Amino acid sequence: MALYDIDAKRIESQLSNNRYFQRFIYLDETYSTQVYLKNLAKETFGAIALAETQSNGRGRQGRSWQSVKGKNLTFSILLHPNIKPTEAQLISLTAGMAMKKTLTEICRTEFHLKWPNDILCGGKKICGIITEAASTADRILYAVTGIGLNVNMERSEIPKELSDIATSLAIEAGKKYSREDVLLKFICNFSEYIALFNSCDTAAIIDSYRKQCDTIGRTVRVICDDKTLYGRACGITDEGAIIIKTDQGTMTFAAADIVHLRMHDTAE
Ligand code: BTN
Repeated sequence: MALYDIDAKRIESQLSNNRYFQRFIYLDETYSTQVYLKNLAKETFGAIALAETQSNGRGRQGRSWQSVKGKNLTFSILLHPNIKPTEAQLISLTAGMAMKKTLTEICRTEFHLKWPNDILCGGKKICGIITEAASTADRILYAVTGIGLNVNMERSEIPKELSDIATSLAIEAGKKYSREDVLLKFICNFSEYIALFNSCDTAAIIDSYRKQCDTIGRTVRVICDDKTLYGRACGITDEGAIIIKTDQGTMTFAAADIVHLRMHDTAE
């Protein structure tokens, strides 16, 4: 029987024509869908695991990820892409572009892609993405990309400490969305990008990302390894790292936290 508005059978039947994802796993509760799929990585290809709640939802940079049962989409995707370990970041960037496209298709509001792959709406975070990969020296064995999208969460359900920085589709659009429809649209959009991985067209992926990333050209605060610096984001490398022009010179970051600033925010 379907719990909430997710019908696993319907999703699986919709996926039957998808080239990359056939298996859909629907869990009421799990530790983390990331861990769940990593445990399946040796025996399964192209799977998606969605959980209503996670006891240990993981975010980027060692943070946790909280969600409300029945309201949001918290899911992970298992891939075995034919790419080098240095290109692992491209999977996250791709998922970010596919999610931005999905949200733009279903909701008239504007969405922005903040490097590397947060999606913002009205300056607040609506979706977070994390990719964890296992690799040999020259090949990725598997990658698990996890996505947390705030769909129907109401303002009162957002934890107080996040109320200035987090939002949901329902809050922004003033109406509820079918989580199943959002998920299926995303899988369809993400699958189109995966085709580029398989044809080894990583240049097309990064070109497309450069055009869509809203961080480029902005004044930003960068937090990396407990250090904070300010500068102007001026580009993205072929591996998806961000290039920042600072007073001390130009620096490249493969992983960091970025905050978009208005000019006057820099003088703290
Ligand atoms: C971020 O910090 O912005 C990334 C958040 C990613 C959260 C998702 S929810 C589904 C999947 N399972 C996890 O434990 N984390 C990811």
